[in-house]
Amino acid sequence: MTSAEPCTLVIFGAGGNLARRKLLPALFQLEAAGRLPERMAILAVDLEPHSDSEWHSVVSDLLRQSHPEAFDPDVFSRFRPRLHYHPIGPGDASSYGQLRSALEDGARFPPNMVFYMAVRPRDYLHVVEGLGNAGLLREDGGWRRVVIEKPFGYDLLSAQTLQSGLAKHLREQQLFRIDHYLGKGTVQNVMVFRFANLLMEPLWNHHYIDHVQITHSETRGIEGRAEYYEGAGALRDMIQSHLLQLLAIVAMEAPVSMAAEHLRDEKVKVLKSIRPIPQNAVHAHAFRGQYESGLENDQAVCGYLEEPGVAPDSVTETYAALKLFIDNWRWAGVPFYLRTGKRMANNSSAISIRFKNPPQDLLRASRQGPAHANWIMLGIQPDECLKVEMQVKAPGLELKTRTLSLDATYRKDDEADYDAYEELLLDVMNGDHSLFLRIDEVEAAWRVVDPIIKVWSMERDFINGYPAGSWGPRGTYRLFDRDDQFWRHSLDIEGADLRAF
Ligand code: BG6
Repeated sequence: MTSAEPCTLVIFGAGGNLARRKLLPALFQLEAAGRLPERMAILAVDLEPHSDSEWHSVVSDLLRQSHPEAFDPDVFSRFRPRLHYHPIGPGDASSYGQLRSALEDGARFPPNMVFYMAVRPRDYLHVVEGLGNAGLLREDGGWRRVVIEKPFGYDLLSAQTLQSGLAKHLREQQLFRIDHYLGKGTVQNVMVFRFANLLMEPLWNHHYIDHVQITHSETRGIEGRAEYYEGAGALRDMIQSHLLQLLAIVAMEAPVSMAAEHLRDEKVKVLKSIRPIPQNAVHAHAFRGQYESGLENDQAVCGYLEEPGVAPDSVTETYAALKLFIDNWRWAGVPFYLRTGKRMANNSSAISIRFKNPPQDLLRASRQGPAHANWIMLGIQPDECLKVEMQVKAPGLELKTRTLSLDATYRKDDEADYDAYEELLLDVMNGDHSLFLRIDEVEAAWRVVDPIIKVWSMERDFINGYPAGSWGPRGTYRLFDRDDQFWRHSLDIEGADLRAF
């Protein structure tokens, strides 16, 4: 069922959060679906001194705990022989020689290799240098690919420095900069929706669209990731990467083809067209906040400052909202509002597109209250859906209007769901870069957020709070261009118009 060639996947940081929560479960699901190449080995690399058999128990336990309903012992007995373990210290140069010797065992490890950096961002370059110096990135016996997780740098300059370090050992074609949002089904469905249907194209521009909202809200807090999150914050963690990618897909022109470079060419053009925010306009375009204690699903939860590992005077934002403009012909004057937050009222990722009102309000007398514009809602998670809101006549003798939501949810209940990492791991094994970021995209995204990062890092005295379990700080409405614009909190008609603040 799979076209990927035999290969070895080497996971650095295999005992860490990402490998345990995402990579190993995704690989197990691919095993269950029969999508892993027949000859494929998974070599876990980390500091702990496990033997192969101890590692098998670790993986079996974590899969049983994390996905009890999906754990199938028969699948695990196929999966187990692929799993190997190699202890290594990231700063220890000689251990890369030992790793190379281990990988030279061709009977266990096919020579095509993927090296997955599931380590702390500051270790990416050390590991790649270790691999490069040990000759493990030379493609003489098979291909060598490296997957770099986000964040790629912490600002433009550091991203460029990281890139020049990586480029000493790797060609661009060997690098897979992952943004797991691009592996999500609905995100790809945005492209299908736009480019496989003619219906929307004439409307997809500033003549008809009033504004676009892209939201990612989570009820989770930082879940013990203070060390990373304190230096990142919501703007770097979610907006520079995931949400700007969503914006690029919504706003890009049709590519020449769906080939990776054509797609990435178009995304980069959009990112480069985003109007730079001068430092003196940051407050008009960006808003930050930090969660305080509150209730999440009726449970009392602590505020960000009480989280273990967070500095007592931290002003790291756990909520960020931005207003951006794309200065090109298609989008002139259309605001794109992006927002994300932890410990929010709901888990929800969605793109909501609001259309303008009809040029003449002929049916004013037939409704109560303001006109309802058309909306297109693309739910990314938890519900993958596509909804279009329209006005229709309400049944009855009078001419009254009401809002109807056409639901074109594309996944049926009995159709399998998959995790973004499953798709992306297969793409790496197949050498397909379409859903990975090119360096110019990463740089363009940093250029968008860098001025905000600079201003926020200088303003260290105050940050707006919001109670855990709410929709974020008060006052974010000041980002809106007009007073008939408001955050869309729900994909349903009821509760859509929550003009809470
Ligand atoms: C990660 C961020 O990239 O994305 C996390 O570092 C965030 O902070 C996560 O929670 C959200 O991804 P998902 O797939 O769980 O919505």
